[in-house]
Amino acid sequence: MLPKVYVTRRLPAIAFQELQAACSVDIWDREVPPPYETLLEAVRDKEGLLCLLTDRIDSNLMDAAPGLRVISQCAVGYDNVDVAAASARSIRVGNTPGVLTDATADFAFTLMLSAARRVVEAADFVRQGRWETWGLTLLLGQSAWGATLGIIGFGRIGQALARRARGFDMKILYYDLNRNPGAEAELGATWLPLDELLSQADFVSIHTNLTPQMRGLVGEAALRRMKPNAVLVNTARGPIVDSQALYRALSEGWIAAAALDVTDPEPLPVEHPLLSLPNCLVVPHIASATVASRTRMAQMAVRNLVAGVRRQPLPFPIN
Ligand code: DGY
Repeated sequence: MLPKVYVTRRLPAIAFQELQAACSVDIWDREVPPPYETLLEAVRDKEGLLCLLTDRIDSNLMDAAPGLRVISQCAVGYDNVDVAAASARSIRVGNTPGVLTDATADFAFTLMLSAARRVVEAADFVRQGRWETWGLTLLLGQSAWGATLGIIGFGRIGQALARRARGFDMKILYYDLNRNPGAEAELGATWLPLDELLSQADFVSIHTNLTPQMRGLVGEAALRRMKPNAVLVNTARGPIVDSQALYRALSEGWIAAAALDVTDPEPLPVEHPLLSLPNCLVVPHIASATVASRTRMAQMAVRNLVAGVRRQPLPFPIN
């Protein structure tokens, strides 16, 4: 008999076929996440769970599934999974690192330029029929060429962003709990304490995991340190930035603009004050959303899941 697994969202066909060949699959077949109570019920008789970052996977859920061997997160970030609780129950946890690095770095750079050069605001301006003439001071933005980029979190994605920034002749600063002399040498990057990075950077891009230490890292004090021309980009996790403080920073001109792929809360309700600001560009957590990245993420997640239910080491383990 094939091992029973639960999958919390539809997968790309190629990954789903691989999974169906190895497991008896029960799937939540909708675009919105399963309610927690549904998930709780669905995992009771399962050996494996393939989940997304929108699913809360806590100790309570693990206790509801006594046969659970593996939790396979289809994402690189896994702050929604209580990994310590999983380890304590000998449940393996895996994720999908690496395959979304370039897509995410590309997108962070896209957001940097889009916010700096007011691309979405300018397109709206045209659509609203407000384009009357060429204007010397019309929709002026911030320059990226030769500017200073401050990267918070210098792992795979942070470094990939630095590689792109070198092509724009940018000065690269980074802050990370761990210094990385190899990457500093390769990318010409300079480590600085966070406060100094914030006060020097024209662009600040966030690429750190959401840990308790990082929650609210970019709050009022941090935002007040930034330059009035600065652009903040977040493609990591919403709660790293304090949304209320960011609203004040953008509406009172402490910084020039922000571009958010991730928000707190997420999704951001349409009536949220941040969405009323022309200098705040918000997109729905799509930094890794290329066909290639998402397909490879799903395939990696399936491989972790199948290995876990077969009691084999996970190819991409977290614990
Ligand atoms: C992740 O993988 O953690 C991203 O946020 C979604 O691709």
